[in-house]
Amino acid sequence: MTARAPGRLIALEGIDGCGKSTQAKLLADRLGALLTFEPGATILGQSLRRLLLDTDQAPVSERAEALLMAADRAQHLAEVVVPALDAGAWVVTDRYAASTLAYQGFGRGIDRGELATLIEWATRGLAPDLTVLIDVPAETAADRRGRGAGDRFEAQGITFQQRVADGYRLLAAEEATSWLVIDGAPGAEAVAEAVWSGVTATLGEGPGRG
Ligand code: TYD
Repeated sequence: MTARAPGRLIALEGIDGCGKSTQAKLLADRLGALLTFEPGATILGQSLRRLLLDTDQAPVSERAEALLMAADRAQHLAEVVVPALDAGAWVVTDRYAASTLAYQGFGRGIDRGELATLIEWATRGLAPDLTVLIDVPAETAADRRGRGAGDRFEAQGITFQQRVADGYRLLAAEEATSWLVIDGAPGAEAVAEAVWSGVTATLGEGPGRG
């Protein structure tokens, strides 16, 4: 990780429908952190998000998809994340680099080493202080998402989501010191308490309080 101070970067990760967006918001509110997300948190990112996710857009090849996710992240860091961290803020991001490893790597089948090189370049090596995985079985997440068509990734079906879920668990096990795995099956309030306990035990209670 590049040297920087004094902000903290926390990434929330998990498969579609795991409840991570709810948890990211609750955590950011309680920490007094800036809440942001990928893909799509910048003007450029809004366009990229549409191209990547909308089912009525032109086909996107696997490598183009990985590059566009990386482009979104580079812009997100330049415009939103790095200025906030430099100013001493804590930042909670709903998805970050692990989404690329999980979805483009384990989901689509792109080589993980190649993706790691792409991520390293796009982020200049800026890794989260902590990545929180909201872990739910793919079937539970699919039930929560309901029967709507959803975006391009949700439309991939259950076996794709299962590969992504297994990928996330493997990534978390490989880097246990910088990942927190939270069981996302209980209700949102119980999950939020578990996230809070885990995050504050590792990083303290937020700017000015940790
Ligand atoms: P998200 O905004 O979390 O979806 P939703 O609004 O339905 O909660 O994420 C959009 C999708 O983009 C999600 O299916 C995962 C995918 N994605 C990748 O495949 N790679 C990435 O690097 C990122 C950031 C997201």
